[in-house]
Amino acid sequence: MEGQPISAIVTGAGSGIGKAIALKLASNGYAVLVNDLSEASAKAVADEIRGAGGQATSTAGDVSSETDVAAIHAAAIATHGPVGLLVNNAGIAHQALFEDLEVKDFDRMFAVHVRGTFLMTKAVLPTMLEKSAGVIVNIASQLGQIGGIELVHYSGAKAAIIGMTKALAREVSSRGVRVNAVAPGPINTPLVMELSEDWRAAKKAQLPLGRFGEPEEVAETVAFLASPMAGLFVGQTLGPNSGDVML
Ligand SMILES: NC(=O)c1ccc[n+]([C@@H]2O[C@H](COP(=O)([O-])OP(=O)(O)OC[C@H]3O[C@@H](n4cnc5c(N)ncnc54)[C@H](O)[C@@H]3O)[C@@H](O)[C@H]2O)c1
Repeated sequence: MEGQPISAIVTGAGSGIGKAIALKLASNGYAVLVNDLSEASAKAVADEIRGAGGQATSTAGDVSSETDVAAIHAAAIATHGPVGLLVNNAGIAHQALFEDLEVKDFDRMFAVHVRGTFLMTKAVLPTMLEKSAGVIVNIASQLGQIGGIELVHYSGAKAAIIGMTKALAREVSSRGVRVNAVAPGPINTPLVMELSEDWRAAKKAQLPLGRFGEPEEVAETVAFLASPMAGLFVGQTLGPNSGDVML
């Protein structure tokens, strides 16, 4: 990229897909604010980026907290300037049959994924609209498209993210801000390892490609959506999913 690096925020970037996205964006020349609930893991990723000659800083914080979101946003502006790219990636996994699903687990799932995406987007959007420039990429899941057994809360939250992506894209794309989603299939990260072995074995057997994806393969999709090459992609949900969902 020429000129000033674009200031980017990646939430939940201390691990897995978010970490791969942060590393990829930094290697593409973005200045990256690495957020995670875990201060140590966010710092480790920012250190890794700087060690490789990139620009990064880290801020711990919970994306479902208005106070933390304000601090994350303020840190990004202070260090790298007004935010031009937001990747809403932070997420959690939890499995329960619907009849065993507790209200607290349902609420936390929606708080992290849906409220987190909403709050982070609320924070960065006004400046993007002022500048008529900005990109938002929301990490959904194919389970938001097809549903997953024992994952009503997770599937519902990810479907909400896909709906929010489309609605916001309709509102703001003519004002210079592109909003899209990525709906990965199963990817080898700590989150997927939290799901049962039975679930993972059954899922792998269903995949046309016969294998789970790697975080770096999802990061490529995000980097593409963030780039000017994706100028015609508006409100789309791209699926790096080993062929599990074909739309
Ligand atoms: N791994 C998969 O198979 C898969 C498939 C589809 C979608 N996804 C989605 O991709 C995203 C990343 O998942 P992953 O597999 O890399 O998981 P991961 O557990 O490796 O990483 C998620 C990170 O988000 C952080 N996080 C959790 N809650 C947070 C909060 N409230 N605020 C800030 N950070 C928070 C965690 O600390 C963790 O570092 C999630 O949104 C997940 O739902 C994952």
